Amino acid sequence: MINSLSGMFLCATLLILYSFMDSQSEALNVFGPGAPLVAVAGEDLVLPCFLKPSTSAVDMRVEWIKLDVKDSLVHLYNDHEDRNEGQAQLYRGRTSLFKEELQKGNTSLKLSAVRVSDEGRYKCLVEDKSWYDDIIVNVIVEAQGTHPVITMESYANSGGINLVCESRGWKPEPEVLWMDREGATLPAEATQTHRDTE
Ligand SMILES: *[C@@H]1O[C@H](CO)[C@@H](O)[C@H](O)[C@H]1NC(C)=O
Repeated sequence: MINSLSGMFLCATLLILYSFMDSQSEALNVFGPGAPLVAVAGEDLVLPCFLKPSTSAVDMRVEWIKLDVKDSLVHLYNDHEDRNEGQAQLYRGRTSLFKEELQKGNTSLKLSAVRVSDEGRYKCLVEDKSWYDDIIVNVIVEAQGTHPVITMESYANSGGINLVCESRGWKPEPEVLWMDREGATLPAEATQTHRDTE
């Protein structure tokens, strides 16, 4: 008798707990972009992250972390202000939240002057006293290389010449085509592409 009574009590407690958790998870979630972001080196980038339904994040803690071999702090907003004492060196002075957007639950991050090393996965974590949620944003960085410079290296045994074209900093690896003045593809005997990793 005692056993079945306490069993019923437990059931009721679980039910209440369950519906409480259920309504919580339905109430508020963090959303981000569905696809990876493609950024161009040197330009500014907005990493989207927002609360739905729209709820002010002004009183919340917003943390942006770069997920890497060693996770590093990209930006921290807590107690109504930016707290970037522990920010990774790489991100110094390059990050900001949109302060006027925070009250609409928009916790997107602005990253200035994107670098190739910024590529990777970022976690946006929004936390309140009794709740938190996070999303991952994937960032791909593309870079346009330097203007190509052509130099003549030597005379080839075959009677032709060896030309060297140099251009650095491309990402992804570029396609190389030799053309004449009219834009017709040159039937180069052998083309070698050297890549030096940076
Ligand atoms: C968040 O704010 C940024 C900057 O103003 C804007 O580009 C973006 O569209 C906003 N996102 C949402 C969901 O309102």
